[in-house]
Amino acid sequence: MSIPANLPLRNDLAGEEPYGAPQLDVPVCLNVNENPYAPSQAVVDSIVERVRAVAPTLNRYPDREHMELRAALATYLKKESGVDLEPEQVWAANGSNEIMLQIFQAFGGPGRTALGFAPTYSMYPEYARDTFTAWKTIARKPEPGFELDVDAAVKAIADVKPSIVLITSPNNPTGTPATIDDIEALLEACEKADVAGAPKGAHPLLVVDEAYTEFRRPGEPSATTLIAGHDNLAVSRTMSKAFAYAGARLGYIAANTGVIDSLRIVRMPYHLSAVTQAVALAALDHTDEQLAQVGHLRDIRDGLVDWFRKQTYKGTPLEVADTDSNFVYFGVFDDREFIFDELLKRGVLIRDVGPDGWLRVCMGTDDEIETFKSAFLEVLRLAEQR
Ligand SMILES: Cc1ncc(COP(=O)(O)O)c(C=O)c1O
Repeated sequence: MSIPANLPLRNDLAGEEPYGAPQLDVPVCLNVNENPYAPSQAVVDSIVERVRAVAPTLNRYPDREHMELRAALATYLKKESGVDLEPEQVWAANGSNEIMLQIFQAFGGPGRTALGFAPTYSMYPEYARDTFTAWKTIARKPEPGFELDVDAAVKAIADVKPSIVLITSPNNPTGTPATIDDIEALLEACEKADVAGAPKGAHPLLVVDEAYTEFRRPGEPSATTLIAGHDNLAVSRTMSKAFAYAGARLGYIAANTGVIDSLRIVRMPYHLSAVTQAVALAALDHTDEQLAQVGHLRDIRDGLVDWFRKQTYKGTPLEVADTDSNFVYFGVFDDREFIFDELLKRGVLIRDVGPDGWLRVCMGTDDEIETFKSAFLEVLRLAEQR
């Protein structure tokens, strides 16, 4: 990073680094929680067809309201979560990163606070920084559970009077789900609380980040089922994870129209290109194919959790957080950087995020997981000899 002093960079951005996991050319990349399975030929054909159809119209701006896509996403949510939503209750953007930034732009700002539950997704403080919103966290329960501390959360909502309460379920990097009862408790607390810096009568917006929700255990309801009757709830989703479409950059949110209309105020005009809309629609024509490996990835995840729990480090079994996601959080190592670096030397890239001593590995193909396991065993023995 080199930003010359003669540029008037915002004072609070001085010394900041661009966010992002390393993008390295290694054989086994298990660091950014993607679905390792590529789109099928039928999906690729559908993409080509849809993009070919919009190509001759690219001299014109796209549908700013992306209504066809919102309708297709509402249909998908009906199928995936059993929830009835109108297209007007769904809104999309370039990744749920952009959705979340729009939320902070619309509901955060100077004098406002967003409340989260740490450890959690490391981008949240950046949305807060970029929108001059204060970012405050309440600790989750101690490792290896990392569950939401509902009592502490409810109390903090009343005390802090945040404008945004952000709960990630399943959580990143720990994989921990919040139960629907937890979410309802937070929602009730939000509906009773005031918001510092907002006119009287406003209540905090509860945002449930369900980026990994398709990996949840069968039978667990999605927070989208609570949207009816709750104006202060928004559920963020993405096609980047289970949906196997990270390269397409498509995130979306489900909420009542008040939230959606608020986001429409701050969105860039034509923020979603005609090509992005076409590519997203192509995959939504094939939801079963896109999600075909999710059950298998869940099985691999549960198998890996069991496997980790049988391994020891310096005579103690490894700690593993329960996970409903497509990654596993494990530890606790005296020097996690050593484990990370030695795995990388063996061509396996994982992620060193969150509390000290813990590492995160996301699910790959069967071969990739086997490669990870044998490299990890080698590295573990090496680490013990240090
Ligand atoms: C919890 C969580 N939310 C949101 C995102 C952003 O996903 P995207 O912008 O690809 O939709 C991620 C990505 O890792 C995430 O872990």
